[in-house]
Amino acid sequence: MSLRYSQISGWGKYVPEKVLTNFDLEKMVDTNDEWITQRTGIKERHIADEAETSSSMAVAAAKKALDVAGLQATDLDLIIVSTSSPDYLVPIVSSLVQDKLGATCPAFTLVTGCTGFVYGLVTGHQFIATGAYDNVLVIGVELISKFLDWTDRDTCVLFGDGAGAVVLAASNTPTGVKSFDLGSDGAKGKHLIVPGLGTATKIDHAMIDRGEQYLRMNGREVFKFATRVMPKSTLKVLENAGMTVDDIDLLIPHQANARIIDLAIRRLGIPKEKVFVNLHKYGNTSAASIPLALIEAIEEGRLKEGDHICMVSFGAGLTWASTVVQWGQPLGQTAEVADEDLIWDINALRKRLARTSTSVRVKARTVLDETSYKAGTLMLPLYTSVGKRLPWWSRKNSRKK
Ligand code: UT7
Repeated sequence: MSLRYSQISGWGKYVPEKVLTNFDLEKMVDTNDEWITQRTGIKERHIADEAETSSSMAVAAAKKALDVAGLQATDLDLIIVSTSSPDYLVPIVSSLVQDKLGATCPAFTLVTGCTGFVYGLVTGHQFIATGAYDNVLVIGVELISKFLDWTDRDTCVLFGDGAGAVVLAASNTPTGVKSFDLGSDGAKGKHLIVPGLGTATKIDHAMIDRGEQYLRMNGREVFKFATRVMPKSTLKVLENAGMTVDDIDLLIPHQANARIIDLAIRRLGIPKEKVFVNLHKYGNTSAASIPLALIEAIEEGRLKEGDHICMVSFGAGLTWASTVVQWGQPLGQTAEVADEDLIWDINALRKRLARTSTSVRVKARTVLDETSYKAGTLMLPLYTSVGKRLPWWSRKNSRKK
């Protein structure tokens, strides 16, 4: 089976209005602007207000991405929301996003920490490449400020809130995800953990008094992991794409710490001009960090037709994820379509028709079932009073309910 390309056809970002600077933090914990700037490169971050949620931020970014792609929410075939800070454990945030957007497609949440967006992009690409779906929305969102202990200087100075979304669209043009390298090292999971929220702990007052509902981090261990894994995964993903370091036009690293990025690119021999960094404005926004950087790179005109972007991330798990994406032309300007591509289009049309007729059949069946159930319920007193049993179609549906 030949595979299709998945082009990034839309993009949108959202950051909360409120900005928290290093100087603001000086008034909250025992820290200072000099330490934060030198050790991390962060100057300020955006913090959500009380009314905001991960789903509201994701929807704000997604609407912009749909607009750029020229799509309605109902055109989407799949929504993937990558986050570690959902609105609730249940219901899942991806379904909340689907509902708020007015989309009718399946949706799922992907939880791999700061690597979530790259994991999501690669996953979305698989659905398009195989021909299963045509339009996939991938969102990286994080409202991490509500999981921070604002008395813990080891963590609270590092993180920020935000969301970035892209639309992946099936394309005949050779663009989009060219290769990927995903990984997990669960033995190191304890170094970046919210110890109290999950089945491993019973939520009680003692646990809350110990502050186990907040994110805890062994910064040095994560630092060591990051500086080792970033160059390694970059080389692997380039090898998978049949490329070398020199072929990268723009490197978009996870925006956690400027020192980690500097060390990684020095080891790789990538010049600074080819690396996109915006962490001084946003801090570490976890799963939103790569899409926020990608979208700003697009907005600043850093990408041109055919450029190769390498995105490389690390995070909770501990995990890593990298991908090489070739930047493509906007929709509506696709090159001449070859014969075999026409076959793809006809196949896609046939599949769409089949899907539509199946969905009409399923809808008709549902209406029939519900009508027969309602009729059975209405007639229940009558049947009871004359001592008769309900007809089979009504008995069946009553049992189902
Ligand atoms: O997305 C993945 C999430 N995590 C990360 O990417 C984090 C990776 N790790 C890091 O970025 C760095 O390890 C940190 C920025 C967290 C810390 O930098 P570091 O150079 O590894 O500092 P350190 O932990 O070795 O601490 C150095 C000193 C310590 O004081 P002493 O023991 O030398 O007296 C800390 O107590 O800095 C102190 N310190 C601070 N001082 C002022 C720690 N946090 C702060 C702070 N302000 N906020």
